[in-house]
Amino acid sequence: MRFWGILLLLVFSILSCREPEEENPIIPITPVDSFKVTPYNLVYPKWNSVIWLRLKIPADNPLTVEGIALGKKLFYDKRLSGNNSISCASCHAPEHAFADNKAFSSGINGALGDRNSMPLFNIAWADVLLPGNHKFFWDGRKASIEDQVLGPLGDPKEMDQNLAELVLKLNAIPEYPPLFKKAFGSDSITMRLVMFAIAQFERTLISSNSKFDKFKRGEVELNASELNGLELFSTEKADCFHCHGNEFNPLFTDFKYKNNGLDSIPIDKGLGNFTGKPEDFGLFKTPSLRNLSFTAPYMHDGRFSTLEEVIEFYNSQTKDGATTDEVIRKHFPHGGLNLTATEKQDLINFLRTLDDYEFVSNPNFRP
Ligand code: HEC
Ligand code: HEC
Repeated sequence: MRFWGILLLLVFSILSCREPEEENPIIPITPVDSFKVTPYNLVYPKWNSVIWLRLKIPADNPLTVEGIALGKKLFYDKRLSGNNSISCASCHAPEHAFADNKAFSSGINGALGDRNSMPLFNIAWADVLLPGNHKFFWDGRKASIEDQVLGPLGDPKEMDQNLAELVLKLNAIPEYPPLFKKAFGSDSITMRLVMFAIAQFERTLISSNSKFDKFKRGEVELNASELNGLELFSTEKADCFHCHGNEFNPLFTDFKYKNNGLDSIPIDKGLGNFTGKPEDFGLFKTPSLRNLSFTAPYMHDGRFSTLEEVIEFYNSQTKDGATTDEVIRKHFPHGGLNLTATEKQDLINFLRTLDDYEFVSNPNFRP
């Protein structure tokens, strides 16, 4: 017995000393999780013949049909919140261009946040316009779409969901592991994969079929009032283009953080809250001006209920604060833009051409 035991040990030790290259008795590792995904064909919008700039899709999270479908399911699933009552869509509803129609959305147990929900469309272009330097949220505290998902999940006033528990919860819901397996090749659900799937869905939320887009493609005409509004928007007269993009920027924002003169002393420090720098106090993310008819109320605190109020603010109510932008400041001597009633209406009529009814009713974006 003892002899055989020693012999066995010897054989084992000889085997284990062997260089695998010498002779290869080891069965090549076949990926147990070999899986096939369907690449998603992202159709880029056009203005005339000019194709919108290509998105930068992270190499480790390519868009796939399976990943996007899973992301959509998670986006609408209330089980992603601590007491299974709130989903992302509770505050980002498709009919409101993925924003909310209240100044402050109610999170878990009716808790109210202190900022207005932001619409979700074309958000992935931030990384194209500001490569490596783009941010998310009104105050810029997140730097990637993937990473951003953690914000609302863990926020006690939003979804108040312990992340470790969420992973356990999702793994225990029978329908989920097979869907993760199809999308990512692993049925062991992790937080990283939850973030990846939701981010994929968010990247597909593209708004590009407003009346203005169709005008840019030569499909429809704008009327005289809308054209005059465009002219005001794009020139020093109303000066919107400095921040909200010009008529050659289909996104209608530059994605930068600015102080548009809402308060002389900002109550919410915005970007300054996050960076701690005095020069950032009162700076907020410049929102896109697409889909405004669906996203009221306006501004980071939802203080304006109508576009008329917003235009009157730029026209006569902008405030001088320590960080108020130069573009706003330059109109102070006139008390603001000082537009006529007709010009104000023209500007609003132009802004309404940026409403994308096809986007807000697109069945692909709904559960
Ligand atoms: C209770 C309401 C609520 C819920 C639930 C919620 N959000 Fe939000 N979302 C907001 C608010 C409010 C903001 C702006 C917050 C801020 O700037 O501090 C925001 C901002 C965002 C932004 C930033 C957009 C930009 O342009 O910078 C993204 C992306 C986003 N939410 C995605 C999600 C996803 C994904 C979920 C689900 C995992 C989710 N939200 C759940 C209210 C909510
Ligand atoms: C100096 C940059 C700047 C200029 C110029 C500017 N804006 Fe803004 N705009 C912003 C910023 C920043 C915000 C967000 C402010 C906040 O919520 O604190 C904003 C918010 C808005 C909103 C609210 C959108 C929403 O989703 O809440 C509208 C509408 C708007 N601007 C329209 C205009 C129009 C029209 C003009 C021209 C008359 C204009 N802006 C000029 C920077 C600017």
